[in-house]
Amino acid sequence: MVDVTISEAADRLRRGEVVAIPTETVYGLAADATDASAVAKIFAAKGRPDFNPLICHVADPAQLDALVMLDDRARRLVAAFWPGALTLVLPRRPDCPVAPAVSAGLPSLALRMPAHPLARELLARVDRPVAAPSANRSGHVSPTTAQHVRDSLGTGIAVLDGGPCSVGLESTVVGLTGETATLLRPGGIAAEDIEAVLGETLVQPTDQTLQSPGMLLKHYAPRLPVRLNAAAAQGKEGLLSFGKPLPGFATVFPLSERGDLAEAAARLYAGLHALDHVAGLDGIAVMPIPQQGLGLAINDRLVRAARGR
Ligand code: TXA
Ligand code: MG
Repeated sequence: MVDVTISEAADRLRRGEVVAIPTETVYGLAADATDASAVAKIFAAKGRPDFNPLICHVADPAQLDALVMLDDRARRLVAAFWPGALTLVLPRRPDCPVAPAVSAGLPSLALRMPAHPLARELLARVDRPVAAPSANRSGHVSPTTAQHVRDSLGTGIAVLDGGPCSVGLESTVVGLTGETATLLRPGGIAAEDIEAVLGETLVQPTDQTLQSPGMLLKHYAPRLPVRLNAAAAQGKEGLLSFGKPLPGFATVFPLSERGDLAEAAARLYAGLHALDHVAGLDGIAVMPIPQQGLGLAINDRLVRAARGR
C-alpha cells in the first residue's frame, strides 16, 4: 500500500505521474491536465475508453478564464455552488492549454472546483488544472475511501488518504455549451437547487452519446447482481435498506435509517462495496429510494449497477 503525503502527491503531479486523491464526492485518479502523456496514464490505469472525457479540477474560479468561455449562467452557478459537487461543461477557448485527450477531442471541457480541504490544498500547490475521473477500474463502483481505491486499482497505486468522502456520489454535470442548460449527469447537488439558481428547467438530453459519452457505458457495477425496489427477501441476498429495513435479510447495510437522502447518498458506494465482499451472498437487494432531490442521482447509479454486469 502506497500512502503519499500532500507534498509527495504534488510532486507526482508535477512530474507527470498519476496519484489518487480525495474529493468530497469520490476519490479521483489525478494527473496534470496540461500534460498529454500524464493524461494517457489515467486512461491506461482505469482501462477507460478514450472517447470518454475527463473532469478538470481547479483550485480557484479565477483559473476558468484561461480555459473556457464563460457566460452569465456559468458565473451564477460557480458563485452559488463552488467549491462543491457541481461540474460545468463549457466551450474550450481556442488557446486552452488542457490536453485535447481530457475532452476526448470534444470542443468542450468539464470543470469542477472540489470542496475537500486536501484536494484544495493540493490543487493550490500544483497551480495547474488537474484531470481526475473517479479512481476505479472503468465500469466498477466508484471509491469513497482510500481502501476502495486500492481494491479497484491495486495496491501499487499512490493514494493521498483524506478519509471517507462526505458526499459519496459523483458531482452533478451540467452542460452549458448550447442555448439550454442540460443535466448531463445527476449527482451530489440536487437538480432542483441548480434550477432555482438558473431560473430555468434543466433539459435532459435525449442523445447522450453526443452529450456525455460516459453516461452510456456500463457503470458502477458491483460483482453481485443488484435487484431494485425490493419488497421482500429472496435467496441469499444482502439488503441495502432505506428507512426501516425489510424483514428476512441476515445481512443488512442501512443507507439511512431515518430516510435521509443525503445520508443515503454518502453511504451508497460504501454499501455496494461492503455487501459485494460478504462471503455467501448471491445478490444485493435494494429498498425503494424516493425519486426526488439526491434520490435522482442515487437511483441513476442503482439502475446502472443493476444492469451493468
Ligand atoms: O465527482 C466527480 O465528478 C468525480 C470527482 C473525482 O471529481 N469525477 C468523476 O469523473 O466522476 P468521471 O470521469 O468518472 O466522470 C466524468 C463525467 C462522465 O460522465 C463524462 O462523460 C462527463 O463527465 N464529461 C466529461 N467531460 C465532458 C464533456 N466535455 N462533455 C460532456 N460530458 C463530459
Ligand atoms: Mg466514474
